[in-house]
Amino acid sequence: MSEKPWGGRFSAPTDEFVEAFNASTHVDARMYREDIEGSRAHARMLGRQGILSHADVQTILRGLDEVEQEIEAGDFTFSIALEDVHMNIEARLTAKIGDAGKRLHTARSRNDQVATDTRLYLRRRCDDVLARLQTLQQVLVTQAKAHADTVMPGFTHLQSAQPVTLGHHLLAYVEMLERDRGRFADARQRMNRCPLGAAALAGSTFPIDREWTARELGFDGPTANSLDSVSDRDFIMELLSAAAITAVHLSRFSEELINWMSAQFAFIDLPDAFCTGSSIMPQKKNPDMPELVRGKTGRIIGALVSILVTMKSLPLAYNKDMQEDKEAIFDALDNLEGSLRIFGEMLPGMQVRRQRMREAAASGFATATDLADALVRAGVPFREAHAIVGKSVAWCIAHDCMLESMPADACAAIDERLDAAMLAQLSVENCVAARDHVGGTAPAQVRLQCQRWQQQWENV
Ligand code: ARG
Repeated sequence: MSEKPWGGRFSAPTDEFVEAFNASTHVDARMYREDIEGSRAHARMLGRQGILSHADVQTILRGLDEVEQEIEAGDFTFSIALEDVHMNIEARLTAKIGDAGKRLHTARSRNDQVATDTRLYLRRRCDDVLARLQTLQQVLVTQAKAHADTVMPGFTHLQSAQPVTLGHHLLAYVEMLERDRGRFADARQRMNRCPLGAAALAGSTFPIDREWTARELGFDGPTANSLDSVSDRDFIMELLSAAAITAVHLSRFSEELINWMSAQFAFIDLPDAFCTGSSIMPQKKNPDMPELVRGKTGRIIGALVSILVTMKSLPLAYNKDMQEDKEAIFDALDNLEGSLRIFGEMLPGMQVRRQRMREAAASGFATATDLADALVRAGVPFREAHAIVGKSVAWCIAHDCMLESMPADACAAIDERLDAAMLAQLSVENCVAARDHVGGTAPAQVRLQCQRWQQQWENV
């Protein structure tokens, strides 16, 4: 007979390579705390329900404490022959305490166990991500406040469009991160139901109290259907969707920082501690961190695709395919949290070249819309105003000058309604200050928004 916990009906040992291929300890060992926490709750419930004796429960709890200490002290060797974290811990417990250890798995299966452990573990990781998202938002709001009136070019199609303030630009990311927080919080709430007691797939013949274990483990209650409980991985798909969207946001931001740090833009400089040099080109200072964060987006999106494809077409209830769920989500969350941490620590040290940003904002005829608006105020229909300013821009390109330096006779030749006073008003500062309404780029609005965010955080 095989020595496996499930070896009773087997007569031949597991193939050696199958053993290694089958094992998940290298991935799931990190859930040891949650596994022990789940076992404690399960054992106590069995005791309360008279399914295990009080003495056995006490022995199990003591044994679990010892196993936890061994793991924490680094004295525990996970064996691939025991497949996963669950059987490793149970085997060690039994080696320590004997029969009581063998009774722990009454009314439980690894199928509800792994679903419970994973939810417990991811719930904690979800809270970590939520905290990191908020820290990054706070860093961005601090920078936005400092740059409420730093003017930069706003782009569409990556062409100069209209001047905006850097503060306004940074606050756009605060909005994205807030929606990200909403998605993580929402996923967390739906995930917070306890599958323990679903056992293998159909429930248990013992008089278990699922309400009790659920509350004991901090869940909002037990899951309602045993088949769904052991086969549901929606919580992983949801978390990975949220993670992928957050990664996309960080990637877009990365792309901008990389552009802004190039000699061609020269808008910002990132701190040395977050950049690296070149082994051959002595002049180089590369924005490696934003580049790497942009790169991490690929594997995080990959993790989402991986769990979706793994789950697609799986019949109810548990299937071994689902063991593949953890590697992807763990890796994605590690990298997402790492990316959030990098951004949170790098951005306070970002140097902004205000003068250079302002010059860039003033070039490329970014004030053209405001000139058209001025004509409209003087009674010119917008479509006509658009055409007049279009001709003016063409004139300026041909004569290599800015709109505000067009001579009066050139204006008059294009249209007599185009007057020099309008041109004199065309500063980039006036352009941003004029957009003074909810959601607009005016420095006053940026300050208001920063205040709104800070008050919101103070009130929680
Ligand atoms: N290591 C498995 C997993 O991660 C645990 C559950 C296995 N259950 C089973 N009946 N083989 O999915």
